[in-house]
Amino acid sequence: MTDKSNTLLVTCALPYANGSIHLGHILEHIQADIFVRFQRMQGRRVYFVCADDQHGTPIMIKAQKLGRTPEDVIGEMETEHRRDFAGFEISYDHYYRTNSPENREISEKLYTILRDRGYIQVKKISQLFDPEKKMFLPDRFVKGTCPRCHAEDQYGDNCEVCGASYSPAEIINPRSVISGAVPVMKESEHYFFDLPKFEGFLKEWINSGSLPKEMANKLQEWFDAGLQQWDISRDAPYFGFMIPGTEDKYFYVWLDAPVGYLASFKNFMTSKGIDFEEFLKESSDSEMVHFIGKDILYFHSLFWPAMLHGAGCRVPNHLYVHGYVTVNGAKMSKSKGTFIKAATYLKHFDPECLRYYYASKMNGRIDDLDLNLPDFVARTNSDLVNKLVNLASRTAVFITKKFQGKLAASLDNPELLDSFVAAREEIAAGYNAREYSALIRKVMELADDANRYVDEKAPWVVAKDESRNDELQRICTTCLNLYRVLITYLSPVLPKLARDSAEFLKTDLSWDNLGTALLDKEIAPFKALFKRIDMKSVEAMIADSKQDLQDLNAAENKTAAKKGEAKKDGRSGKQSDGKSKGKDEDDAPGIITIDDFAKLDLRAAKVISCEEVPESDKLLKFQLDLGNGETRQVFSGIKSAYQDPAALVGRFVIMVYNLAPRKMRFGVSEGMILSAGPGKKDIFLLSADEGVKPGDRVS
Ligand code: MSP
Ligand code: ZN
Repeated sequence: MTDKSNTLLVTCALPYANGSIHLGHILEHIQADIFVRFQRMQGRRVYFVCADDQHGTPIMIKAQKLGRTPEDVIGEMETEHRRDFAGFEISYDHYYRTNSPENREISEKLYTILRDRGYIQVKKISQLFDPEKKMFLPDRFVKGTCPRCHAEDQYGDNCEVCGASYSPAEIINPRSVISGAVPVMKESEHYFFDLPKFEGFLKEWINSGSLPKEMANKLQEWFDAGLQQWDISRDAPYFGFMIPGTEDKYFYVWLDAPVGYLASFKNFMTSKGIDFEEFLKESSDSEMVHFIGKDILYFHSLFWPAMLHGAGCRVPNHLYVHGYVTVNGAKMSKSKGTFIKAATYLKHFDPECLRYYYASKMNGRIDDLDLNLPDFVARTNSDLVNKLVNLASRTAVFITKKFQGKLAASLDNPELLDSFVAAREEIAAGYNAREYSALIRKVMELADDANRYVDEKAPWVVAKDESRNDELQRICTTCLNLYRVLITYLSPVLPKLARDSAEFLKTDLSWDNLGTALLDKEIAPFKALFKRIDMKSVEAMIADSKQDLQDLNAAENKTAAKKGEAKKDGRSGKQSDGKSKGKDEDDAPGIITIDDFAKLDLRAAKVISCEEVPESDKLLKFQLDLGNGETRQVFSGIKSAYQDPAALVGRFVIMVYNLAPRKMRFGVSEGMILSAGPGKKDIFLLSADEGVKPGDRVS
């Protein structure tokens, strides 16, 4: 860590105001909060700020659908987001918004300086335009047929079937997701930030320690690919800030979003009567670090520092980048109920179970982190309840009952306590390096030592012998002192348990007084500090999450919102590390309506050929005749029931004709063959009635 006396500004990525906070977001806020709480304990002057990211097309469209103003919608979200973060004990000094006067002012100021210094260029570009809605369409708001594999219903920027990326101009049969109208190409003037001019500066900045080496290498690939001019403008109508000197151009949401870090800080500083301008100066000795996910690295490692530097301002000192949360080994999924909202989690569990679980798996790298729910239950019970809190509960009872709540004047085993205190530097280094998993492992090793000590001393046996009362009091006092050291170490992770423990021990938990044992003083009667958890609550949480989805579907049906719209990625021009955003959500519905069902186009198809896929133990590969010369290739996982595929040739099967093609390991599957049954040998192909022709619709 650098000089402790200067100011440190810590931020988390500003959550998009388009949706609720979920357990994926929460990872970042927990990671940063632990870091901040530790720095505060070290006496460092740190400010921890965040805000809602409120501009952009999706918010505007969502508000229109709901028949409300964007201001109204974002206001409600802001309240919800603040409540969720507070529920997880995220200790923000300030949580603000990007749709604020400070953000407008700083965005305009940075832009004006960049423009006056020649870093902004104006160019005409052609884009798809919705002639009905009279608006330009971001990539995600255009759908059509993939120009490469001809899969239908693909987004304007990339195909989920074959993985191709393309420009919306290339897509076949494009249509507007908003109105359904056929978009037209239209020219308009756009404003570009001249990123390539900053290549030299960026290379230097990236290698100055602002990013871990593994990521600096990743960025080298972006340099090799060549930096591009960045389109920072959007045409009206847009929910955002008007670009100074224009009448119908707005700042692209990703321009004013990072500025929102500064706006939040400024609003806070001003309310405290502290000068903010000093902080922005190139010469400032304060530090600024951003906690972000790997998906938004491009914005934070290229555009953001270049913008600040170009405008003569200070740049970030560090980017702390994390990976993605998966649940039970897979992407969070709405249909599986593992797309868990922060608020839903809090209905079933203590926030500290998750804080502890995430911390126990977090390091300073960008690996993804799996929230394995059975493991989450087991870890909470074994570490927090059995190892940690039991240490206090097993011994405090005697202090309360036999010694009027008073600790002994000396310890039974001072060396053991010393060895605990000696770990202080190692633990501190873990917090500074954000190697939380390593430091937690260390604390749990100490907890094991402490439990071994209790087991050896068996205070419950000693308690039976009145003549050994002094010894009993000293053993219990030793134990409670060990507990105090452990909970002090973990207090950045478990702030609530730390508060309750401080109250119970009637002392402040601080890094500095670790060396002084609690002796000859009164403590409060012991109250249960932490409850065991079980899988029943997990199941209830999953069920609730599925319900959240149904509620959402119902709300969207009511407002006639269409699929894809609520997704965040109405932001074109977003360059990322190849993974487009918004994909952490799948859209598979938990229930379907009769209308959904009616969308299935079921057809009779005649099996032309059927063969095993040798590399797969499940799949058969079919060529199907659909009449009028049309054939389709379909894979079906029914090998276990149909051992002799050749025997199926000539049979009439029923296929889902309008299913989007799916790329599988062995080729593209262009539909689905219907079969039913419990599995293994008992799967039965559904047959079409006699008398049908290939391609006939069946129902
Ligand atoms: N609004 C932008 C950030 C602007 S910062 C100037 C944005 N918002 S977001 O809501 O989509 O994401 C906010 C943060 O949450 C990002 O850092 C993102 O990486 C993180 N996460 C979103 N889903 C996540 C997981 N499933 N797992 C871990 N982090 C995830 O991007
Ligand atoms: Zn494709």
